[in-house]
Amino acid sequence: MTSTNSVPAHVGIIMDGNGRWAEKRGLTRTEGHRAGVRVVHEITQASVSYGIGYLTLFAFSTENWKRSYEEVNFLFNLFVQTIQEYLPQLKENSVRLNFIGDVSSIPLFVRTALARSAEETHNGNKMVLNVAINYGSRNEIVNAVRTIIKLEIKDINEESFKNYLYTADQPDPDLIIRTGGEKRLSNFLLYQSIYSEIFFTETLWPDFTCEEYYSILEEFSHRKRRFGGL
Ligand code: FPP
Repeated sequence: MTSTNSVPAHVGIIMDGNGRWAEKRGLTRTEGHRAGVRVVHEITQASVSYGIGYLTLFAFSTENWKRSYEEVNFLFNLFVQTIQEYLPQLKENSVRLNFIGDVSSIPLFVRTALARSAEETHNGNKMVLNVAINYGSRNEIVNAVRTIIKLEIKDINEESFKNYLYTADQPDPDLIIRTGGEKRLSNFLLYQSIYSEIFFTETLWPDFTCEEYYSILEEFSHRKRRFGGL
């Protein structure tokens, strides 16, 4: 089966480079994250306009706890602030917010704000915005195993397994973009990404523009995808 694609059903983005962007300008890392939020907003809008059904943004990984207490605390506050600030626009654009990751160990005030915003946007039918917070694929897979182990062995297969991941009922990402120059997936959507087209760009996340995004989407639309066939 060969397939060319026009619009990806699902795009995943590893938003890397906020810290370096800030350091280059003599600013604090937290100012880099603030600059990154503006880009989150623009890319979300651009994705809705382009007709993308699912956008997954890697906001905080299970490994990000290794950062300083101040930075982790700043990030959690920034997530809550940003979500509250953009909620009216998300609703206006019929975007449904969904959080993927192990929310059981994030601070209660963050968990409460996330649950409320997901609830407030649950009627959104244009695009699902998955925000990955305390997300890691290995954690996701192990959690799935803990649940699925209660099923009969004959009912466990590749398709049924997918329903126990945080992205249950969603298409696999067709396209994954990583900004910031590193060329790895860093525990992001590992089960789901076997046939994803992957684009790496040197651009640091706060400098990533809709123009660059559209040019990646354009290049994606010309890639031939064989899904293991000829
Ligand atoms: C990676 O850059 C970025 C993060 C760990 C945080 C990303 C978060 C945002 C852009 C805010 C998003 C908000 C919402 C609600 C989605 P880095 O700090 O690892 O950069 P570096 O590699 O240059 O140090």
